[in-house]
Amino acid sequence: MKQFISASDATDVGLLVEKALGFKAEPWKSQGLGHRKRIGCLFLNPSMRTRLSTQVAAQQLGMECIVFNIGSEGWALEFGDGAVMNGTTVEHVKDAAPILGSYFDILAIRTFPSLKDREEDYSERYISQFIRYAGKPVLSLESATLHPLQSLTDLITIRECMNEDRELQLRRPKIVLTWAPHVKPLPQCVANSFSQWVNAWGGADFVITHPEGYELDPSFTKGATIMHEQDKALKDADFIYVKNWSAYHEYGKMLCSDPSWMLTHEKLSGSVKAKVMHCLPVRRNVELSDEILDGPHSIVTRQASNRVWAAQAVLSEMLGAQDKKNTP
Ligand code: CP
Repeated sequence: MKQFISASDATDVGLLVEKALGFKAEPWKSQGLGHRKRIGCLFLNPSMRTRLSTQVAAQQLGMECIVFNIGSEGWALEFGDGAVMNGTTVEHVKDAAPILGSYFDILAIRTFPSLKDREEDYSERYISQFIRYAGKPVLSLESATLHPLQSLTDLITIRECMNEDRELQLRRPKIVLTWAPHVKPLPQCVANSFSQWVNAWGGADFVITHPEGYELDPSFTKGATIMHEQDKALKDADFIYVKNWSAYHEYGKMLCSDPSWMLTHEKLSGSVKAKVMHCLPVRRNVELSDEILDGPHSIVTRQASNRVWAAQAVLSEMLGAQDKKNTP
């Protein structure tokens, strides 16, 4: 695996999930794989789970991890080709990325979208420029439109729960991605990415529900059933993934934040066994009620703890590819 920025970088999603669960069972089994290898984790935006789980995963593979909060501690980067840098940006990515590539064996990057210019955000200019100029494998820690380590984690968690449930071992689960209210417009990354990975996995009946106007980019959701009536969508769900996102068509806008879309116990009356997921951080009693988060339906802590195994599986694939390249 030379890069990991999208589901299309995984040759077999099911096998990658199994690999991650293998690391969960035996965290240190490949501790020699990253010997004398270094990963640089560059953050243009804040993070808790992605940052720490990637560090833990790298350590369990015997790899050194150096974190650089480039967005707050580094020089302001310029990404524009041919830019006349007489404004606030100090260093061009063309100059910075090859230097970072010379320090590290793998570069990992987190960037967020502007939510102002859809064409620019969906061109994934920031991460693409790092891939173009770094000369080393690049791992996405969340980009303008996708969050692949999160989505791999989500599938690991779903698979794990299915393995523990006899009934779910015999049939396809119903997975529902539901929009939730929020106080500010958020990126579409997690919802895009979850849709992309569930579709690539192909092991579930997949429903997406949201108020009208919050349609996602169809290139990610193709194959899912889209519904605007949340109650109908939730019926008989095995897994309910709760997430806010801003509008894709009226780009970056918060068209409504109808509080009735927040998931409550009452809404689960038609799906009493459903497990509730969220990528976190979560705005309690805005996106998800206390009664759900603190009750038996929630698997959000398990989900967040599984971030380590997703990162470890992906890093081991990237390190394995480097080993193969270096073998005569
Ligand atoms: N879910 C997630 O990416 O969390 P962080 O922003 O804390 O990394």
